[in-house]
Amino acid sequence: MAVREILRMGNPLLLQEAKPVKEFNTPQLNVLISDMRDTMHDANGAGLAAPQIGVSLQVVIFGILNNPRYPDADPIDEQILINPKIKVLDDEKVEDWEGCLSVPGMRGLVPRYKKICYSGYDEQGNARSIEADDFHARVVQHECDHLWGILYPMRMTDLSKLGFTEEVTANLKNTD
Ligand code: NI
Repeated sequence: MAVREILRMGNPLLLQEAKPVKEFNTPQLNVLISDMRDTMHDANGAGLAAPQIGVSLQVVIFGILNNPRYPDADPIDEQILINPKIKVLDDEKVEDWEGCLSVPGMRGLVPRYKKICYSGYDEQGNARSIEADDFHARVVQHECDHLWGILYPMRMTDLSKLGFTEEVTANLKNTD
């Protein structure tokens, strides 16, 4: 069990493109995945990308079940996704509130594609391809963005909808 330090916005490692994983089932990769799982759970995150703990590899973990940070979200099975690719299935974008463990204490209204197909590999190296929409699609787009060096404020179109969580919850969210 190892909870790792989560890098915060401003750290240049979060703006780098991560490299693809070339070999599966290695001790290093298994330790990385185990640390990512522990770190995400410790922080009550819906997802975490390897660059957030300072490892520039294309590995993300996400999942949501009774998460206090996202009380209204539908459950998503916890899964590892390695070397992901996203195909947009519908050009429609929808806006919703996001947070990020690398941008602690804040929320922003972010447009994301409503429906996608994501593909990649699980931790054993098995290929997978899954269709997702709404919050599930949003989480995948957010986590994969970390692998391309993009944080959610960089996807926002209206920065007046970026704020501290308590203020957003008390004010902005009630106006939409
Ligand atoms: Ni994030």
